[in-house]
This record gives sequence, structure tokens and C-alpha cells, in this order.
Amino acid sequence: MLKPKLKVISVAHQKGGVAKTTTVCNLAVELSKLFNVTVLDLDPQKHTTKFNNRRDQPYKMKDIKNDKELISHLQNDDDLTIIDLGGYDSSLARTALLLTDLVITPLCDSSYELDGLVDFNKIINKIVEKQPGIKCKVLINRVHHADKITYANIKAWTDKDSNHFDIYQTVIPSNSKYKLMLSEGKSITELTSGTPAIIFNKLVNEIIEDIKG
Ligand SMILES: Nc1ncnc2c1ncn2[C@@H]1O[C@H](COP(=O)(O)OP(=O)(O)O)[C@@H](O)[C@H]1O
Ligand SMILES: [Mg+2]
Repeated sequence: MLKPKLKVISVAHQKGGVAKTTTVCNLAVELSKLFNVTVLDLDPQKHTTKFNNRRDQPYKMKDIKNDKELISHLQNDDDLTIIDLGGYDSSLARTALLLTDLVITPLCDSSYELDGLVDFNKIINKIVEKQPGIKCKVLINRVHHADKITYANIKAWTDKDSNHFDIYQTVIPSNSKYKLMLSEGKSITELTSGTPAIIFNKLVNEIIEDIKG
């Protein structure tokens, strides 16, 4: 197993339905092939946990009930920790962000997405004051193939110096396999070796570069 330089990844956005859980589940499966991974499901809806319960080969998870348990895990565990932060702004979520090295914020294709990101950036700016080293990256997800406008708009926003976010080059297209995977307990690469899996692996390679530092 490789030793990660960057130890805590949070998939986070205060907005629901943007593919946080989908991203965590797929990343957990792929990154567990290379690193010792522990997944924390901080969303009360527990969709990441339910997905894992459906798996033949579950990834490693740890149940976290409060800030104390969270801090103890993040400070003492050598694994690469991937956190589904849920779609809310709670004390537990803020504590997790303060101990996070890389925030991945998925966005979906809609004209309201930039508004949501601007709001989330305000929370991130407060975190950055206390933890200047934190990396934050937008992941564009569930877009139609031909859509270059969403990426260009969000990229223009992330390019401004005042914003703390960078952006992944890989864009995840809308595909019905992503709906199927959650109910089947299979990752996108386990469901298909076609285009959706190839594209997701491109994203994984970008994230591995971040993890290697
Ligand atoms: N690339 C995609 N294409 C099509 N549907 C997707 C894609 N990514 C996620 N979805 C679907 O979008 C919905 C919301 O995803 P989910 O991961 O539960 O979001 P969140 O955790 O942010 O609330 C789910 O039904 C999921 O199957
Ligand atoms: Mg979720």
C-alpha cells in the first residue's frame, strides 16, 4: 500500500443532491486499491453507509458520534480518511473541515450552481483563516456531454484570486449507471468498463496527484 502525503479528504457542499455520496463511494472503492482507506459517514442520512452495507467487499468505515471521536480519529489514524460530510453546516462538519487537507465540492449542471458555490466559499474562507494549507477543488458532475459552458463559468470563477477553489479538469457526465450503482452496491468501475468508468478513473488519477502532494 502507498503512504498518502495528504491524509484527510472531505467531499463537501452545503447543498444536497450534488453527488457527494456518489463521489465518496466511488473514490473509496478506487483509492482502497492503493491506500489504506477509512471512510467516515457524517451525513445523518447515512447513504454512504447503506451503499457499503450492500457491497460484497465493503470498504473500511468507522462510526463517529461526536467531535471528540472525530478529532481522535483524524489525529491518530494513519489511513487516508475520506469523509462524506453531508449537506449541512453543523459543528461536526466544521470540525471535520478544520482537520481536512483536501475538500472536493461536487457541483451539478444548473444555473443555480454558482450561487451555491459562492455561499459555500464563505464557509471555506472562515476555515482557511484557521487552516491556510487546506486545498479546495470543484468537481463538475452530472453534466451533458456537449456542455462546455458550465465548466467555463465555474473555471472563470475559480480563477479569481479572491476564491479559494481550484477545479478538476475531469468532468463527470450524466449517466444512468450512476443511479444504478447506489442501489446495487457496486462502484461505477465495477458496473461497467465503458466510458463512465474510464472518465471516473481520469478523475481518480487527478486526485492521486493531490494525495501524493
Ligand atoms: N454523473 C451522474 N449521472 C447521473 N446521475 C447521477 C450522477 N451522479 C450522481 N447522480 C445521482 O444524483 C443523485 C444525488 O446523488 P448523491 O450522491 O446522493 O448526492 P448528495 O450526496 O450530494 O446528496 C443520486 O440519485 C445519484 O444517483
Ligand atoms: Mg449524500
